[in-house]
Amino acid sequence: MNAPWKPGSNNGRDPFAAFVCDEDTLDILRPVVEEMGWAGDKCNMGGLRNAVQTLSVSASPNILLVDLSESGDPLNDINSLAEVCEPGTVVVAMGQVNDVRLYRDLIVSGLQDYLLKPFTPDQLRDVLAQAQAVINAPKTEESQSEKPHVSTAVIGTRGGVGASTIATSLAWLLSHDKERLTALLDLDVHFGTGALSLDLEPGRGLTDAIDNPSRIDGLFIERAMIKANEKLSLLSAEAPINSPMMTDGTAFFQLQEEFRAAFDCTVIDLPRDMLINYPHLLGDVNATVITTELTLASARDCIRLLSWLKSHAAQSKIYVVANKVQTANLEISRQDFENSIERKIDILIPYDIRTAAQSAKLGQALVEAGKSSKAAAKIVELTNLVLGSVEDSDEDGDDKRSFMGKLGELKSLLPSKKVKEEAPKV
Ligand SMILES: Nc1ncnc2c1ncn2[C@@H]1O[C@H](COP(=O)(O)OP(=O)(O)OP(=O)(O)O)[C@@H](O)[C@H]1O
Ligand SMILES: [Mg+2]
Repeated sequence: MNAPWKPGSNNGRDPFAAFVCDEDTLDILRPVVEEMGWAGDKCNMGGLRNAVQTLSVSASPNILLVDLSESGDPLNDINSLAEVCEPGTVVVAMGQVNDVRLYRDLIVSGLQDYLLKPFTPDQLRDVLAQAQAVINAPKTEESQSEKPHVSTAVIGTRGGVGASTIATSLAWLLSHDKERLTALLDLDVHFGTGALSLDLEPGRGLTDAIDNPSRIDGLFIERAMIKANEKLSLLSAEAPINSPMMTDGTAFFQLQEEFRAAFDCTVIDLPRDMLINYPHLLGDVNATVITTELTLASARDCIRLLSWLKSHAAQSKIYVVANKVQTANLEISRQDFENSIERKIDILIPYDIRTAAQSAKLGQALVEAGKSSKAAAKIVELTNLVLGSVEDSDEDGDDKRSFMGKLGELKSLLPSKKVKEEAPKV
């Protein structure tokens, strides 16, 4: 079902109006609304019925809060509201019915959110801030540009190598410094840090997309994505860790399609297991950034990823980025690492705990928190490479050895105690 409302930019309308059913709700609502800089007298009594009557004779606000508590048939009543509400309004409902089916139906019918009563001022603040973010989110039409879309996946060879740090920083630079409308898709559905690292709430956008891939369209994108800066929008989740992800991957495919239409750049923070389960995710990306550390385990997995990419994402330019590189006590030298993966490391980012800690403390991308750091300068270099990948179709040097051959050579780098050679068969 298509959503009946289309969020739009400010257009001389009131920023906010509410229609609630009881005084207690009004008492919680007014101060929060005033905090947001909106007029407290736009909080009216009368619930959904009054909202329909009022909006049938006056302009719709940008954000509309309606109380469904006195509604016998919320879905039907919401549809009558849709008939009088102008396109562009973001509607948030509230009510006392705690029923996930009703919630889903309301969301599918185009509501931004549903607040279960009674709610706290903080819950209200979150929902209104999210509605405001939707209003401010970049609109599909704004992205019409001559430049070809640049889609980049960032994958870590091992856990914790800094793939998310690089994905977030790359997206930040593309949007902020390069002024490209950018989507950051954090596909670490349960443990993603994209939102956390930018000091944002992840929202439910990605979870909704996975649950209802048929709902994904330009309008859904506008509503579900969280704005990190003027030109950067984020889609992520913090799915409960007791709920496994149930999807055939259709949602990811759809999202990539929509991003291509709505943004100049897409950056996907791609956990390795997603690549195994949904190989089509990389079928259309322009650039793949393999983030690695200079360790034996990372070298092995870098070789495996390079080999996989060669057969599954041959169209993609590949950049190998060594991160957290220390000057001394390396497990493998740069030279040995490059020999074993049989290609050059494109970018080497130094270990910089000060900037990394600063970035976490400030809730800013590493490149923003440590603008003048060497690490940031290296990610700027990477950003230029990524942007160049669309124009530059040069092939990487051909692999001359077989995959097994490379793994064999890698073993020769291992200290003997770490290598368990197969015992000769007798
Ligand atoms: N160059 C660096 N120097 C020092 N610390 C870094 C550097 N890059 C990233 N870090 C830190 O390393 C930690 C892990 O980074 P990050 O979450 O980006 O890794 P990841 O590969 O995405 O991990 P996961 O496997 O959990 O997804 C973070 O605390 C981050 O701040
Ligand atoms: Mg990560």
